[in-house]
Amino acid sequence: MKASSPDTTYRALVVSPDENGQYQMAVKLLPLSNLPQHEVTVQVKFSGLNYKDALSASGHKGITRNFPHTPGIDAAGVVVNKTNNFNPGDEVIVTGYDLGMNTAGGLAEYIRVPEAWVVKKPEGLTLEESMIIGTSGFTAASAIAEFIEHGIKPGEDKILITGASGAVGSMAVAMLAGNGYHVVAASGKPQAASWLQQLGAAEVIDRDAVNDTSGRGLLPAKWMAALDTVGGNTLTTTLLSTRERGIVANCGMIASNKLEVPIFPFILRAVRLVGIASAETPMDRRIYLWNLIAKSLKPKNIYTLATTISLEKAPDYITQMLKGELQGKILVEM
Ligand SMILES: NC(=O)c1ccc[n+]([C@@H]2O[C@H](COP(=O)([O-])OP(=O)(O)OC[C@H]3O[C@@H](n4cnc5c(N)ncnc54)[C@H](OP(=O)(O)O)[C@@H]3O)[C@@H](O)[C@H]2O)c1
Repeated sequence: MKASSPDTTYRALVVSPDENGQYQMAVKLLPLSNLPQHEVTVQVKFSGLNYKDALSASGHKGITRNFPHTPGIDAAGVVVNKTNNFNPGDEVIVTGYDLGMNTAGGLAEYIRVPEAWVVKKPEGLTLEESMIIGTSGFTAASAIAEFIEHGIKPGEDKILITGASGAVGSMAVAMLAGNGYHVVAASGKPQAASWLQQLGAAEVIDRDAVNDTSGRGLLPAKWMAALDTVGGNTLTTTLLSTRERGIVANCGMIASNKLEVPIFPFILRAVRLVGIASAETPMDRRIYLWNLIAKSLKPKNIYTLATTISLEKAPDYITQMLKGELQGKILVEM
């Protein structure tokens, strides 16, 4: 049931409220004329699930204001029409910006987006691999690029990853370990420890080891860099335990969106705190990062990080994601 001309229909995950105000997900056939009026139409080959999609699919107004709506902040596929910068058949990646938020998203056979959102798929990465990486891997890569630019060295320096079994965390573990970095993976799931070791973590520690409640202004210095996906007291503990002239990147707020931290890591150890906001990454940096991923960060064992599902299975997996039951990346093949 592939749509092939502007008169035909396409399959899309559609989220809409029922008569009780409960948000329901279903794969529906929509006319292509339903797509928003932007420059580039892309036939989506692969997408992936992100927590933002699960929030959008549950009617979270902070993510999506108007329903019915098609979520999906990630899409990779083939350009359908000629535009200033693209030709039919070009393989492209679209992640972030407003895709899947208030613009119909990648959990569909087609998207139509502004040209300024579209990245040409780099050599060295397939469309499928680009969506295993998706926003979570792009976020991990954004932090790793900050570490490299800060002078963090493979082999010598320990790098902490919190929320390590999550989508961003596990991708960061695999990307860093594959490039020879000593990764300390902090996880609350004992059952994920051997998987994290297979991905290359040199050490797996309990999540509680990065949740100090002593109230001290500094803690023994343990790592030179850290990617924190958890926020709150985990980020505080991470900063207090970072070595002199180290760097901490934060992208998430799984535990809390508040940060209360003594000033000492900054004024006594010159620790740097960097924010990661992948959806808004400027296009030149975006192209640089996708090329870095293709050239050196793409995990060798990339397929072990993903479970591939059909669009029809997306509602089940989104429900599991909301319950925190998933491990690794869910790749959606159209
Ligand atoms: N800023 C950006 O550009 C950007 C981009 C992508 C994602 N994000 C954000 O980054 C965060 C992580 O995203 P994700 O896709 O990796 O999420 P995810 O797949 O749901 O993973 C989150 C992980 O956090 C850990 N965790 C869960 N509850 C926790 C708690 N109460 N305390 C401490 N750790 C807990 C778990 O790992 P363990 O069991 O292994 O500890 C879980 O697997 C989210 O807040 C997301 O919104 C931000």
